[in-house]
Amino acid sequence: MKKIVTVLAAAAILSGGATVAQEYKNQIKARQGTMWVIALNLGTLGGMAKGETEYDAEAATMAAESIQAASNVHFASLFPEGSDGEMNEGSTAKPTIAGDLAGFNEKWAALGAAADKAVAEVGTGTEALGPVMGALGGACKSCHETYRIPQ
Ligand code: HEC
Repeated sequence: MKKIVTVLAAAAILSGGATVAQEYKNQIKARQGTMWVIALNLGTLGGMAKGETEYDAEAATMAAESIQAASNVHFASLFPEGSDGEMNEGSTAKPTIAGDLAGFNEKWAALGAAADKAVAEVGTGTEALGPVMGALGGACKSCHETYRIPQ
């Protein structure tokens, strides 16, 4: 009898763990989706910067505006404690985010500032694209280096 109880308790712990892993599925989807909105639009600007696609002031401004809109999501709220990549399959978020929201928010704000500048500048001509890409790319890198589990 004692053995059965132990087995049941172990099963409960295991299924409890699985429930926790499922609990943050939507937050992970939402934050990765936010990242992809930004990444795709950064790609649009990058294509124009490299001359792979023709410069189009209106399309460039739309891409920058999408990055800016995504940067207005309260990103940190999508990273509740326990939703990190060590606890959840499919995420690459470091577990340190939940305990360092001020630092994380600072890096998110830096992206927001670069996005605001991008909206103001990308429509002014191709020369603006290089510096804008540099500022946006620097903001991604700075946060990923600190808060993303290396791939
Ligand atoms: C404030 C921090 C922060 C900034 C700024 C940031 N990211 Fe991320 N990014 C993350 C974190 C954390 C993850 C991991 C999320 C997860 O898997 O749960 C991530 C994941 C990603 C992913 C992978 C998504 C997936 O499906 O696994 C892409 C693509 C990405 N970021 C692109 C970008 C680009 C492009 C920029 C800059 C224009 C950027 N990010 C700026 C924190 C940031």
